[in-house]
Amino acid sequence: EKGGFATFMDKEIHDQPKAVADTLLGRTDDAGRLRLDEVHVDEAVLRQVDKIIVVACGTAAYAGQVARYAIEHWCRIPVEVELAHEFRYRDPIVDARTLVVAVSQSGETMDTLMAVRHAKEQGATVLAIVNTHGSTIPREADAVLYTHAGPEIAVASTKAFLAQITAAYLLGLYLAQLRGTKFTDEITDVLDDLRGIPEKIQRVIDGAGRVREIAGWMADTSSVLFLGRHVGYPVAMEGALKLKELAYIHAEGFAAGELKHGPIALIEPGQPVFIIVPSPRGRDSLHSKVISNIQEIRARGARTLVIAEEGDDDVLPFADEVFRVPQTPVLLAPLVSVVPLQIFACELATARGLDVDQPRNLAKSVTVE
Ligand code: M6R
Repeated sequence: EKGGFATFMDKEIHDQPKAVADTLLGRTDDAGRLRLDEVHVDEAVLRQVDKIIVVACGTAAYAGQVARYAIEHWCRIPVEVELAHEFRYRDPIVDARTLVVAVSQSGETMDTLMAVRHAKEQGATVLAIVNTHGSTIPREADAVLYTHAGPEIAVASTKAFLAQITAAYLLGLYLAQLRGTKFTDEITDVLDDLRGIPEKIQRVIDGAGRVREIAGWMADTSSVLFLGRHVGYPVAMEGALKLKELAYIHAEGFAAGELKHGPIALIEPGQPVFIIVPSPRGRDSLHSKVISNIQEIRARGARTLVIAEEGDDDVLPFADEVFRVPQTPVLLAPLVSVVPLQIFACELATARGLDVDQPRNLAKSVTVE
C-alpha cells in the first residue's frame, strides 16, 4: 500500500502532482468558467460577503495564510487567518456577511469544529475545505469544497497541504468570478497556470537528489531556520513545522523582513538557514530585498540553503546550496517551493533513524481540544 516507497510520507510527497490535478478536475464548464457545484451557498449571500475568516490548525492554517494573499488580491475582500483554537476566545467580529472558511484534512479536528460551531452561532456562513468525505466538519458546515488528495496516512501533512491551497485558490477565483471584480479577465489565465503546476511539482520531486543528500549529512544539526516573504512566509513556517514534527529538531520560520527586528541575533557561524527566494519577475522588488537578507546572514556565517527559481543567478554569490524550482507565477509559487522542504524534513528524520510516518507524541487527527 506504500506503492514501493519506504514510508507513507515519501509516497504522499510523490502523490502531490496528482493531488493538485485531481483537486482542479471537473471544476470548470465547457466555456472555462468555474463551477463549484458542491458549494450550495446562495450566490446572493456570497456576493455580499464583506470579510473572510479562515480557521484551521497547523499545516491547514498555513494553507490559509498562503491563500489569503491570493484571495485578497483577486477578490479585494479582507481575509483574516486565525488558528481555530484562538478564534472563539477573542470574541471575533462575525456576522451574516462573514464567510468563515474552515480548512481541515481530516474534517475531525476538534479545535476547528468548535470554531465552526462558534461561527455558525454568530450567524456567519461556513464553508469547509476538507479532504475526508463524510467527516464531521463538512456535515456541520453550510457548504463543502472537497480537496481530492486521496487518503493521507502519514501524520505529517504534505499532499493535503497542496490540495488545500489549490481548493482555496479555486474558491478565491470563484468569488472573483461571481462578484465580477477587476480581476475577472485573468481568471482563465490563473486556471491555466494552476493546471501547469502538477508537472512542475513532478520536476521538483525528480530533481530533489541534492536536497536528499544534504539532509542525509545533517542528522546532527540542532537548529534550522527558515525565511520567506509574502507567500514564501507561510512556506517558511510550514518548512519549520515539518522539521519539528519529523526530526525533533528546533526549527523556526520567520518573515525575512523581520530578521533585523530580532531573529538575526540567532545567526552564528554554521547556522543552517533555508531561504525561499521570491521570483525575480515578481512585484515590489521583494526579490532584491530577500537577496540582501541572504547576504546579511551569510556575512554572519550562516550556511545558506536557498530555494530559487531556475535561471535566478542573483542568488549564486550568497548561496551555499541552491535548490531549483521551475519558474512559476508569484501566487502559485508555494505549490512548488514547499516541496524541497518536505523532502528535506523526511530525509533528515530518516537519517536520524526516526519513524517518519508516526512521529512521537502526535496523532493524525486531533479530536480533543
Ligand atoms: O486534519 P487537520 O487538517 O484539521 O489537521 C490540522 C493539524 O493538526 C495538522 O495539519 C498538523 O499540523 C499536521 N501534523 C501537520 O503536518
